[in-house]
Amino acid sequence: MALLPTSLVNFALPALTALQRSPLAGFLRESVFDYYAGWFHPQLTLKRVFARVLAKQAQGRDTVAITLAPSAHWLGALAGQHLPLTVEINGVRHTRYYSPCAATRRKGLLEIAVKRSEGGLVSNWLHDQLKVGDYLELGQADGDFGLKSVGQHQLFLAAGSGITPILAMLRSLQQQGGGAEVTLFYYGRDARDMAYLPELEAMFSRMPRWRLQLALTGQTGRDGALQGRLCPAHLSSLGELSQTEAIACGSFGFIQTVRDTLTALGGVASLQVEAFTPPVFTQSDSQPVTLRYARAQQSKAGTGAPTLLAQAEAHGLKPASGCRMGICNTCTCKKISGVVRDLQTGQLSASPNESIRLCITAPVGDVTLDL
Ligand code: FES
Repeated sequence: MALLPTSLVNFALPALTALQRSPLAGFLRESVFDYYAGWFHPQLTLKRVFARVLAKQAQGRDTVAITLAPSAHWLGALAGQHLPLTVEINGVRHTRYYSPCAATRRKGLLEIAVKRSEGGLVSNWLHDQLKVGDYLELGQADGDFGLKSVGQHQLFLAAGSGITPILAMLRSLQQQGGGAEVTLFYYGRDARDMAYLPELEAMFSRMPRWRLQLALTGQTGRDGALQGRLCPAHLSSLGELSQTEAIACGSFGFIQTVRDTLTALGGVASLQVEAFTPPVFTQSDSQPVTLRYARAQQSKAGTGAPTLLAQAEAHGLKPASGCRMGICNTCTCKKISGVVRDLQTGQLSASPNESIRLCITAPVGDVTLDL
């Protein structure tokens, strides 16, 4: 139980932040301070962010929405960004990345949605063990996935958990008045499993220029829903797309299908994608390449797959990594030379000395990395 009231802790945290910028900072050891201060309140830390669980609410049959009250150290999030969440299970710390379901101001409440997954250690723990009143450790929000500009037509494509960053963008657009033409294609196996569906249906019914299109890959017989996976025929009712700004989030396979489908339809003005599963590869990605690790002064035989991160690890290096699916930027590394493919966008890049995310990048020829 906390010995200090939360209001007093939030009042004190800005002073602790200022203290770290003062000459006294050299006398403070963060781990020691946090350990003893934690006796008084879990959120009393020098820098680390802890959030209190305020509510858990089911969203569909296998997703839970968790409302959190972060400490005053947390700086807020833009719609579409992600944040690391760390839990301790049986004495081992585990970090996963989640997109807030709404843009959140500093000192505001934060909502994340967690889908239960088979064998998912952290997601199942958050569903089954986490209680209202518990504290979770967060990191600051990051990422540039999100609304850049709203053109004549904003097209959102979401599958499964991919709805969460898109919901945040839709909530932001709605708060801004929602004047643009907006279309959401929301894919799921069964409408009863699709998180936030009642809220989305209510939201879209209030916005005259917004259209929600459900697409179901399992359930049949629901009025107005498309059947099956995304294909050009699903988007044919949209007509000309050259003025459309598209944003898609879903599994790696869904993102690839989005890219192929929009290309088949003539392309869009802009496309942003984010995948919440790691890249998958095919047999045809096995052409031999040479991977040079400049700082390690090593040259190794590689192939066009798997990712540069996986190949560097297989070669005995230990590049920093986090989500392993292109979200957290932890694995960002300088590519000194060579041609690589961004597996999410499909783009080839030959620019020297560019930053790449190793976990979603594969070599197309010989590559030299600053590792
Ligand atoms: S972007 Fe998270 S590990 Fe690569």
